[in-house]
Parts: sequence; C-alpha cells; structure tokens
Amino acid sequence: MLTADQMLDPVHFANVLKPPLEAENLPPWCYTDAAFHRLEIERIFMKSWNLVGRADLVANPGDYLATDVAGIPVIVLRGMDGAVRAFANSCRHRGTQLLTGEGNCRAIVCPYHSWAFDLDGRLVSAAGMEQTIGFDKENNGLIEIRLDSWADFLFVAFSPDTGSLPAFLGTLPDHLAAYDFSNQVTTRRKVWDVACNWKIYLENQRESYHIPTVHRESLGDQIAAPLESEGAWSGSLIGVAQTAGILKDETTPFPPIASLTEVERKGSHFIGLYPNIYLVATTDCFWWMEIRPRGPDRIELVVGSGFPKETVARDDFDAVVERYYRRWDMSHDEDNRICEQQQAGLTSPLARSGRLARREWGVNAVDRWVVEMLLAG
Ligand code: FES
Ligand SMILES: [Fe+2]
Repeated sequence: MLTADQMLDPVHFANVLKPPLEAENLPPWCYTDAAFHRLEIERIFMKSWNLVGRADLVANPGDYLATDVAGIPVIVLRGMDGAVRAFANSCRHRGTQLLTGEGNCRAIVCPYHSWAFDLDGRLVSAAGMEQTIGFDKENNGLIEIRLDSWADFLFVAFSPDTGSLPAFLGTLPDHLAAYDFSNQVTTRRKVWDVACNWKIYLENQRESYHIPTVHRESLGDQIAAPLESEGAWSGSLIGVAQTAGILKDETTPFPPIASLTEVERKGSHFIGLYPNIYLVATTDCFWWMEIRPRGPDRIELVVGSGFPKETVARDDFDAVVERYYRRWDMSHDEDNRICEQQQAGLTSPLARSGRLARREWGVNAVDRWVVEMLLAG
C-alpha cells in the first residue's frame, strides 16, 4: 500500500507520459485507491473549471439546481436580477446541506434551524441567534463559488488561483462555434449509477477501439481523427455524420443545424473536456456526460442532450426524439457494463498497467492530463 507522498513519485507515471504507442495506461491503484482519489479531488477537481449544467436548467429567477463536483455539494441558482450564481451547499450555521434536487425558491431556508438566505447568498434571518455574542448576519452569508459560462454551459471553479474559463477552454470554443449551442435546448438529463472509477468512463469515451466489440449490435464502427487541441481538452472529428439519431442502419431523422459549415455537416466532434466531461456535437444535436465521482470506484453518470429550438418545435419532435434516446440508452448500457467489468478486473492485486493500441491515443491524452495536474501540485 503506497502513501499519498509515494503515489506522487513521478517514477510511477514515466510510462504514462510516453507517446501513445510507447505508453501504458495508469497503474491499477489509480482506479481503486481512496487516498489517490483524495489527491485527485485536491489537485484536479479543486483546481479546474467544472461543468455543472446548462443555463436553461435554471431559466427563471429563483430556479436552482443542487449538484456536486466530485462529491463537493454546490448550488447553482438564478437570482432575482437574472444572474446565475453558485454557492457552497452548506449552511453557515452548522453545515447542513440546504437544497436537494431541482426547483424554484424565493429564499433558501435551511431545513435544520430555519436560517434563511436570499438568492444572492446573504443571511436574512437567523431567529434565536439574538443572544449570541458578536454574531453578525453580514459575516454569515453563503460561500460563493466562481461561476462562468461558455455557450450556455455553466462552470464553477473553487480556487481563486485557477485561471479564467476562456484560458481553461483554450481553442475548444473555436472548434465548436458553428454548433450555436445557445440556440439549442436541453431536452433530457438521465442519471445512472455505475460501479467504476471516473477515469475508466472518460477513457472509454475517448477511444474507438472498443466500438466494434462493445457496440457491435448498436452503433457499428466509427473511425476518429484527432483534433489539434490547446486547453484542457482533447478531441476527435469523426468523418461521417454519426448523428445521434441513427442506430446502425437507420437514416437521419432531423435536419442539420442551420449554422453548420461543410466540416460539421460531414462529421461529429467528440470531445473529452477535463476533468470529467465528455461532449459530442453532431449534425443535428449535441449530448454531454458528467462523469461524477462517488469515491474511487463509483460514478453517477449524468447524460444530457439538446436540440436546436426549431427542431424541438417540430410536430414530430416528441415521437422522433425517442429514437435518439433509445440510441443513447443502448450505447450507455453497453458502456456501463463494460466499464464495471474493467473496474472489477483492475481491483485484482494481480492487475498491471497495459499497452495501448493506435485507436487508444485518447486514453493516453486523458491519463497524461491527469498525471500532469497531479504532479503540478
Ligand atoms: S444548520 Fe442550518 S440553520 Fe442550523
Ligand atoms: Fe462506448
């Protein structure tokens, strides 16, 4: 059993940092060890910009979404002034989680002793605290978390030292500008519990090597070409319209997004946005995955999807979109099962790091980014 200090010895990662065809994946304990996972929270999730949802999930003043980043509870909320803010979902009295799920509120009232906070996070009522010496409501507002957005995707950052969101995203917005995400509406979010480490799931999404085996019956093969990336992401362009609507051998049901150029009309962008997001933009819609760690060996997988406003307004939308949902559900069930099986095998004390195929360069990109963040401190 390695200590946290020993785990950060670069010697363990020398083979991860090699070019993909010379590299190995991460050592098995990086997918199973609780102390390693605590290092990841501290050095990766606490230092990154983390996607927490889309602006249209909190469309109206008072709308909130209680979510979390690697187990750190966060409230995303639209204030009366129309601005979206994020707060620590911990009461300033004795720490109770304030909100759960999604909804609309005029104030945030703690379920334990009824302290009430307004939508800017200010403590407005704390009945029974009158005798408490030196207690000042002014100093007991909710802890605000940095929030910024790109194309209606909402991100939070916990550290004041993390650079700006545009710096984090680098060239990604340029690659995806033609999809006009602000004109697309979130139509569904579905949640699964999957018994695997978060990196296993992201690696799975970033390689096409498993597709002819795992998705033999559902998707058929896909060949992905790497994109030049700058910023906290890596991605591929698939050179055929791999629209979400088609299961193998079906035809495309919805028209292409109006703003696409020649490049996007022929292909699909498959993006790993670090630490734990997978985003696909295709000819007629987009979908994303939030791969939320629940400890070292579990995730909550949230899969969201969106379509252009014109498409959602079609008379046949509700009927036809079921084909898309069926496709996603089928391919996720297949990925969920294989990722759980990989976790089960990696938990063995006999498991070792393995070599990568040409089609697994994206696994190397994920592992390399993780190691660089961990070793940067
Ligand atoms: S813990 Fe919230 S009011 Fe007491
Ligand atoms: Fe897959």
